[in-house]
Amino acid sequence: MNVDELLQPELARLLALGWAELRKDYHGINARLYDSVQAGSRDVEYYLETIGPGPAAVLELGSGTGRAAIPIAEAGHTVYALDNSPDMHEVMRGKVPAPVSDRIVQVEADMVDFSLGMTFDFVILGLNTVFALVEDASRRGCFRSVSRHLKPEGRFILDFMLPSASLMSNKDGSYDLSVYQESAGCGCVVVTYNRYDPGRRLSVLNFLTLEVIEGRFCNAYITPAAEYYPSVDEIRQAIESTGMEVIETLGNYDGRPFSDTAEDGDVIMVARLKLPE
Ligand SMILES: C[S@@+](CC[C@H](N)C(=O)[O-])C[C@H]1O[C@@H](n2cnc3c(N)ncnc32)[C@H](O)[C@@H]1O
Repeated sequence: MNVDELLQPELARLLALGWAELRKDYHGINARLYDSVQAGSRDVEYYLETIGPGPAAVLELGSGTGRAAIPIAEAGHTVYALDNSPDMHEVMRGKVPAPVSDRIVQVEADMVDFSLGMTFDFVILGLNTVFALVEDASRRGCFRSVSRHLKPEGRFILDFMLPSASLMSNKDGSYDLSVYQESAGCGCVVVTYNRYDPGRRLSVLNFLTLEVIEGRFCNAYITPAAEYYPSVDEIRQAIESTGMEVIETLGNYDGRPFSDTAEDGDVIMVARLKLPE
């Protein structure tokens, strides 16, 4: 899918007028803002408990700015942090504490198809990163690559949320505004357009980011994006089509089993290579 086609006409007009610049999701100012936008989550605690004392070889797909990869390395594990955004890698590089720098290997690659020439005890695809894989073929490509990189006893952990009723009811689209202050006179105002497309099961997202420097609006950036919300069955089938089997599906990080009647909330799936019959 070409996300540029998802641009709202009024934002496309700002681009045409030259009043704003196009920035890809997770690139440029979006990478810089990621850590302020990202709310804390209990996932890292869950990963650390599941990985255990190790030391283990861990691959994180879509590792971003290292929110999960850094604490996992700090716990004594070696983490391959794979992301296709050089700008997210750059932010992460600036945050990696010196004592763990030799346990974090940053890899710029596409999670849809990668070959690292080694296998891992754990592969993590966390925090809704699977939503970026909008096409079924890209999810299957990613899971196929995962299965090639798992040790025989290795585990693939994938977590995502089911979209809420209010998100899915937003069929007409709406704008929302957030302010991020980075220092006394600097920060950003982000106007987010969000619309749910039930036919394609995806959210169309457009961000207009207005950068404030020394108390004045200076630069404007526009980012078109889309998120696809897969069902649990769809993910299970895609995983199982690539030589793995799902051994656990949880409904939260405390270990509550996932219920088929859940309409929204977290889904945590754990898979392994299919054992020979
Ligand atoms: C929601 S962020 C998650 C970042 C990090 N895992 C965390 O938990 O904070 C998604 C990340 O996936 C990356 N990403 C999206 N599509 C990708 C692809 N096809 N290949 C590699 N990385 C991708 C983005 O650049 C971004 O850093």
